[in-house]
Amino acid sequence: MDKILIQGNSVLNGIIPISGAKNATLPLMIASLLTHESLILENIPRLADVFVLQSILSNHGVDYHVMDNQTDGSNLTGRRVKFCAAKIVNTIAPYELVRKMRASFWVIGPLLARMGVATVSLPGGCAIGTRPIDLFVESLNALGAKIDIDSGYIVAKAPKGLQGSYYCFPKVSVGATHVMMMAASLANGETIIENAAREPEISDLAECLNKMGAKITGIGTSKLIIKGVSSLHGTTHTVLPDRIETGTFAACVAMTGGDIFLKNARSSLLKQVLDVLATSGTCIQEDSDGLRISRTDSIIQPILVKTGPFPGFPTDLQAQFMALATRADGVSHIKETIFENRFMHVQELTRLGANISVNGQTARVIGVNNLSGAPVMATDLRASMSLVIAGLGASGETEVHRVYHLDRGFELLEEKLSAIGANIRRVRTST
Ligand code: EPZ
Repeated sequence: MDKILIQGNSVLNGIIPISGAKNATLPLMIASLLTHESLILENIPRLADVFVLQSILSNHGVDYHVMDNQTDGSNLTGRRVKFCAAKIVNTIAPYELVRKMRASFWVIGPLLARMGVATVSLPGGCAIGTRPIDLFVESLNALGAKIDIDSGYIVAKAPKGLQGSYYCFPKVSVGATHVMMMAASLANGETIIENAAREPEISDLAECLNKMGAKITGIGTSKLIIKGVSSLHGTTHTVLPDRIETGTFAACVAMTGGDIFLKNARSSLLKQVLDVLATSGTCIQEDSDGLRISRTDSIIQPILVKTGPFPGFPTDLQAQFMALATRADGVSHIKETIFENRFMHVQELTRLGANISVNGQTARVIGVNNLSGAPVMATDLRASMSLVIAGLGASGETEVHRVYHLDRGFELLEEKLSAIGANIRRVRTST
């Protein structure tokens, strides 16, 4: 398995282009199941999760064609890909495919809405928590679907089509909001979703669905109103910039010091994160086509983080900011409120010399003067990145193992970090 080697303590300076958001790309790709016409998505990042989803969608009959790699001086760095589900050939999403990536469970919405039936394997738990599916079941039930569980599969049926209705999520869920929004777009009549997730990736999907002929209002709020239509058509849509990648690189420079420009980054996608960064002593300057992040002061101030649904602090940046806090001049507190087991990085950060204690959902991080490089093991995507950030701020060499986690969600990571002066390289091994 590949590993990443980092020699710490290089100051970072330069420009990083921010990629299209992974968590917007995945539901947008799944939305291609809703129409027999072509959906062209621009700015798609080259990520393992995207490639896995391509093969999952192929199983349902989605043809995809890479139109070009947008590295030609255009503002975008990703790929332009055409997805076409002219004919759905299979309404079953098997365990072997769904287990590879939880978001593939979301095909249940479009398959059910377009075909009147979907048989999708239960996704199972994962490293960051139990991640149940009750909200998907309840919200699809509200649209009139009959749902059974059989041998590890959810069997959802709506032979006469889905029926628009009212549903208030008892808890905010990104995935269940994506699914209900896609399903309700093809339902008969009007659907009102309350306590919908407001993540920018939800708005990106809603805007794309509207371009495909859906009638969704309330975009960006917790109340979505969807007037069902009988069919959707093709369109072209550009994936929004990745706010988690933006916050991650910002945390890198906050850790090492330096001055970087995050091209395409948008401050409106991560206001709370930028507020926390500012309290750490990092400067943020907004420009028309990106964000400039710099830290010249030698001291990192302690931070206070509490994760929450958007517009709160994203759980997907919690691990990276904990890495930053390990070198702060004082005590930081980090509270995780979304997932019950998202502190797996704590133990590994401790191997580098961090001083962290966890009490329930809160981590207390006492900043130390020095971290020292060591071999560490990535446990999930964002946790892996916290180890890279800690490695950048450590003396000596840090060796990050199980980097396949990183490949799921950070496009061209070593290339981007090397380009701004980090001493980082991948060692490829065949086993
Ligand atoms: C999305 O996951 C993201 N994934 C996650 O990013 C992100 O961490 C998460 O939202 C929270 O922001 C993608 O967009 C592909 P949820 P999702 O449903 O949709 C509970 C990353 O690193 N819940 O909003 O699966 C659940 O257990 C990933 O890129 C139920 O109780 O998250 C959690 O506590 C990892 N019942 C909370 O809701 C349900 O039926 C929020 O989860 C569904 C969820």
